[in-house]
Amino acid sequence: MMPNPGHKPPGSGDRAHRPAILSQQKKVANLDEIAPPAPITSPLALPQVTDDELQRYADLVYRKTGIRISPQKKTLLSNRLRRRLRETGISSYSEYYDYLTKLPSRHPEWDAFLQEITTHETYLFRDELQWQWFRKKFLAEVANRQRGPMKTLRIWSAACSTGDEAFTAACCIAAELPDLASWRITILGTDIGLGAVEQARTATFGERAMRLVPDDLKRRFFEKLPNAEVWRAKPILTQMTTFRQHNLMDPLPERPFDLIFLKNVLIYFDVGSKKVVLNNVLKVLQPGGYLVVGAAEGIGDLLSEMTRLQPWLYQKPQESGTRLLAAGSSQSQGSFRAPLDLKR
Ligand SMILES: C[S@@+](CC[C@H](N)C(=O)[O-])C[C@H]1O[C@@H](n2cnc3c(N)ncnc32)[C@H](O)[C@@H]1O
Repeated sequence: MMPNPGHKPPGSGDRAHRPAILSQQKKVANLDEIAPPAPITSPLALPQVTDDELQRYADLVYRKTGIRISPQKKTLLSNRLRRRLRETGISSYSEYYDYLTKLPSRHPEWDAFLQEITTHETYLFRDELQWQWFRKKFLAEVANRQRGPMKTLRIWSAACSTGDEAFTAACCIAAELPDLASWRITILGTDIGLGAVEQARTATFGERAMRLVPDDLKRRFFEKLPNAEVWRAKPILTQMTTFRQHNLMDPLPERPFDLIFLKNVLIYFDVGSKKVVLNNVLKVLQPGGYLVVGAAEGIGDLLSEMTRLQPWLYQKPQESGTRLLAAGSSQSQGSFRAPLDLKR
């Protein structure tokens, strides 16, 4: 069967676009009034990937993202791949592999595949302790150290998923910094998943993602969309944030940040990939700047050059003559657009 070249993000399939094989099945069932056994080639009827297929996909995902898929993830991988098979109308895991790997690296199917393969769980104010530190300690320190007419603050939410971390930072900044107009604030969110980045750009969040946002901040900085269980960040937050696609295995061509969030992503990487990512990330952390990590990242041993303040908080040592916070620059916020090269 020829793949359907039209791309739809995972989970967006509507009936009109379902592959022909599914509508054929339904027709037969109506005629005979007995559901026939699904054709062996139907993606829905597919068993799990074989060991060999698992290995090929695991190698592919590793080359593209740095993520290690263990043999225990066979069911998860099969379920996720099945959705791509259904969307493309391809009937076997091997056929999909051949189709995918022959596509140019900028083909939308690569985005859809990566979006499906990766885990995007996130919500605002995740890890409350960290946000208490951010609001009360970090922002106070930032405000104390910069007293000039134009102050700068640069934050990177690396592997930002749908932007919840970036908007939590924006929300705290809007609440804590009294003279916002005298600040040039950049909160950059990046993720390998284009679908996640596009969702982040909408600045909208469901009730579940909003459940830990304190009521007063919710009222001040978000508005509920009419007839929807969806909240949208107000312009005071969106003007601080910018989102783009980026693979953490590649260096980020950016000026240094005062703070980088790197949470709940390296947990999926092996030591070799963790080292590559940390090297890329720490290169753009200002001396004296902070790195906030997730509880289970497994990178403590790899951060010996950093000062450990908490199990989840590291500081890059100061260099003599270097200011803690990123110096102001005439470069416009978020103006750099690096192409994402997924070809490996
Ligand atoms: C579980 S979410 C974490 C979101 C957020 N940092 C948090 O802690 O709530 C992990 C994100 O990492 C992204 N990711 C995985 N591999 C990546 C890579 N090589 N480069 C950039 N992002 C990646 C995934 O697309 C996913 O959105």
